[in-house]
Amino acid sequence: MAEFRVAVLASGDGSNLQALIDEIHRPGIAKIVLVTSDNPGARALARAKDTGIPAQSLPPQPGEGRRAYHARLAELVRVCRPDLVVLAGYMRLLPKAFVQEFAPIINVHPSLLPAFPGLDAPGQALAQGVKVSGCTVHLVDEGMDTGPILIQEPELVLPGDTPELLHKRIKVLEHRALVRAVAAFAQGKVQKAGSNLMIEEETDASKASLTQRV
Ligand code: GRF
Repeated sequence: MAEFRVAVLASGDGSNLQALIDEIHRPGIAKIVLVTSDNPGARALARAKDTGIPAQSLPPQPGEGRRAYHARLAELVRVCRPDLVVLAGYMRLLPKAFVQEFAPIINVHPSLLPAFPGLDAPGQALAQGVKVSGCTVHLVDEGMDTGPILIQEPELVLPGDTPELLHKRIKVLEHRALVRAVAAFAQGKVQKAGSNLMIEEETDASKASLTQRV
């Protein structure tokens, strides 16, 4: 069977990338064929290199706009023929042309979307005084952290939480959710019903519980 090829875009530490390296980058599951970053100092690049995964820094050039930058990025990604593109802490908004060419693209975000899109989602959640936050894995469209939701996991806000503490706990959930999402794509288990995305087994489970309730 042909290997399932994954390209990862990351701008920072790369702990989500590390979870993918540890859990899905192996024969029979998936192969991470490229890690690229707009930030040459991103630890994500070092994590990839340490594992022998092709890692490419692609910093924006002075004055380069979003579309021009992503056209250069597209050249890089195109060559590695990914079946799935994963945004694992990628801090730029993808333009329409990139989203259309490389779909499906998934993103992981540290809140229960559609609440708190954008930067510092844990800080936004604390500022609003919510009692539960969490993480979301969703399909990427042209919006900021919009697009059909595939997985969400909740995390309780604790007394004395800071954005850093809350984010640290949410990241543990993110790693698990992102691994589940990529594995589901690799196994062809992601299903779409209208704008609703589901993982196959969960569809069956929810059908069963619905039958039971009725
Ligand atoms: C994660 O919380 C992700 O949801 C957000 O940026 C963070 C990246 O963390 N978009 P890491 O670089 O994977 O450690």
